Amino acid sequence: MGETVDKLICNRVIHHGPGAVARLDGEIGKLGARRVGLITDPGVVKAGICKRVLDGVGAEVFTFEGVEPEPHYELIEGCVQFLKQKSCDLIIGLGGGSAMDCAKMAAVMMRNAGNVTDYFGADRIPNPGLPVIAIPTTAGTGSEATPACVFVDPKDRVKKGVRSDFIVPEVALLDPLLTLGLPQPLTASTGMDALTHAIEAYVSLRVTLMSDLVAEKSIQLIGDHLCVAYSNGNDVSARYGMLMASFLGGLALAVAGVGAVHALAHTLGGMHKIPHGVANALLLPYVMEFNRIGCRERFARVASLLGEGVEGLSLDMASQRAVESVRNLAQDVGIPQRLRDLNIPEDSIDLIAGRSIETGQRLLVNNPRVMGVDEAKEILKIAY
Ligand SMILES: [Fe+2]
Repeated sequence: MGETVDKLICNRVIHHGPGAVARLDGEIGKLGARRVGLITDPGVVKAGICKRVLDGVGAEVFTFEGVEPEPHYELIEGCVQFLKQKSCDLIIGLGGGSAMDCAKMAAVMMRNAGNVTDYFGADRIPNPGLPVIAIPTTAGTGSEATPACVFVDPKDRVKKGVRSDFIVPEVALLDPLLTLGLPQPLTASTGMDALTHAIEAYVSLRVTLMSDLVAEKSIQLIGDHLCVAYSNGNDVSARYGMLMASFLGGLALAVAGVGAVHALAHTLGGMHKIPHGVANALLLPYVMEFNRIGCRERFARVASLLGEGVEGLSLDMASQRAVESVRNLAQDVGIPQRLRDLNIPEDSIDLIAGRSIETGQRLLVNNPRVMGVDEAKEILKIAY
């Protein structure tokens, strides 16, 4: 750490706190927008969140509500067509990671030629897109903070990422009141996704002072608030803690990257349509167990951030506490514990392992312990 030049990219403005969406109209005004495209999914519209968010917005707003979970990149084409038809000059991404990722990518495609596939990979987008205001309605993906988005390629069912400084939303509005109605399973899986971001970034080989700062706070907030947000969804302070944890986890991953949990989870998501948060939450303790010997000091600190008493323990035992703590947390919030619970056939383990290593190299280079196909198979077998 401190031997190279590091970078932190983040939003220009972040409004956070109960009622933050009331600032939306002012931000639209500052950006000089007249015709706003709102990208969301049917669940958000049905829950009445769209209506609440747009209350008091003076500009004309055109809503595209066709976002699907774990979206295919082809969805962006329809999205862009809609936005062009309506001559939109500003995009709002309202929803979970899928809606925000679609909004971020559609905004870029409004100002860049070609197809989404031309931009898979890092730093390939030549021009800035339309400005984006990101408004998360779940506390997990941290997409409102990140310079990246992820889509499934339907041809090979592999999740592929686009990364560029031009993808970071201009404005983030973090309003915990929008997350009060989130059902328990989603609170749990998205919250555990945020924890995965923070822990993977914290033990990444690319850590920086900035990523440590935000990852540590994110882990601590999740230890303090996830169980309460899960137990009582109407607890505003727990929801706020989780929304901030998710945002900080997003910043941490933007700086230091994520690792083996995400490499495996992307394959599970692409091949078996397992929701991103569920796949991460299930795999996190198993991958931590594997990674632990590569970074025991950091794991001991994770245990302490999660509220475990580690004083007087050997480094080995203290680091083990982190794994146990995360496993207990996942159990407490009802996360499935084994791959068999997700109806994944046991004979697909070899294929999942092979694909994860093949397509996940950009993530695996950050992982604190080298993982090849054999190691991935072993982890998946233990998790089965
Ligand atoms: Fe994630």
